[in-house]
Amino acid sequence: MRTILVTGIRGQLGAEVGEILSPLGEIIGVGREKLDLAKPEQIREAITQIKPHIIINCGAYTGVDKAESESDLAYQINGVAPTVLAQEAEKLGATLVHISTDYVFDGTKNTPYLETDPTHPRGVYGKSKVAGEEGIGQTGAKYYILRTAWVYGTQGKGNFVKTMLQLGREKEELGVVMDQVGTPTWTQDIAKAIASLLQQDTPRGTYHFTNSGVTSWYDFAVAIFEEALLLGLPLQVKRVVPITTSEYPTPARRPAYSVLDTRKLGAVLGEYPPHWRVSLRKMLEEGV
Ligand SMILES: NC(=O)c1ccc[n+]([C@@H]2O[C@H](COP(=O)([O-])OP(=O)(O)OC[C@H]3O[C@@H](n4cnc5c(N)ncnc54)[C@H](OP(=O)(O)O)[C@@H]3O)[C@@H](O)[C@H]2O)c1
Repeated sequence: MRTILVTGIRGQLGAEVGEILSPLGEIIGVGREKLDLAKPEQIREAITQIKPHIIINCGAYTGVDKAESESDLAYQINGVAPTVLAQEAEKLGATLVHISTDYVFDGTKNTPYLETDPTHPRGVYGKSKVAGEEGIGQTGAKYYILRTAWVYGTQGKGNFVKTMLQLGREKEELGVVMDQVGTPTWTQDIAKAIASLLQQDTPRGTYHFTNSGVTSWYDFAVAIFEEALLLGLPLQVKRVVPITTSEYPTPARRPAYSVLDTRKLGAVLGEYPPHWRVSLRKMLEEGV
């Protein structure tokens, strides 16, 4: 039986990956207390002990705004740790699946980003994720870097869907940014794509995976409320107001256009991801 080490097991993606990949092997899910990604020696020791066949790195420094003032820690967790994981995977002949982000791009394109497009992150979080990708690429490990975007799911501490539902229960009017577009992506779909990728003899490299379609944060919020109302969830919200990014300043700049082209992975897996709204509906039906 294969041993599958999943880091960030209590994060929204890690928890889902731990469940969905359990038919593929013995899952060893670790959180920060067992494997602190900020401590390279601890990573090396844990991997030497566990000897996994597959490592799925769902742990990350995900505070996009906080990273602007904690750049050393962000680089340690998002840049150094994935590199160390890849070095250890190479020693064992293990496969590494690492999760990266649309924020490696600057968002100035207006057609979906390809895996071959040059990276040009706008903030520390994106830069630290690029460092991780580059570190992994310099090893000889069998690796998959899966870039995804706008992630939400039922598990973990929080995400845009949970925040909107919370605000929608409390407020009658909400302003949501309408000039940033991307593709909301359900953790369950990402976990299933990872399972398919591992079950097929997928060539190592970087792949984009998101749900299909394009939307803005504003339209995503409206869709969340429409779907929630159809399910009978109690909401106070009566009006969602489209606002611009400049009306909602944040410490980190975000890409205006962060749609990823997913055709490379689709061609390998022989199937394309569900539309974001279909997945949103399913996620809300499961309960948040
Ligand atoms: N969320 C998004 O919209 C999005 C978009 C694109 C890509 N991604 C990528 O997708 C992956 C999964 O993200 P997610 O949304 O599931 O994030 P998440 O819910 O924030 O989970 C990240 C996990 O990493 C853990 N972690 C943080 N620092 C750690 C450390 N020093 N040692 C060990 N574990 C640590 C966290 O543990 P604690 O709970 O203890 O902090 C948390 O369980 C990440 O690589 C992220 O960059 C996310």
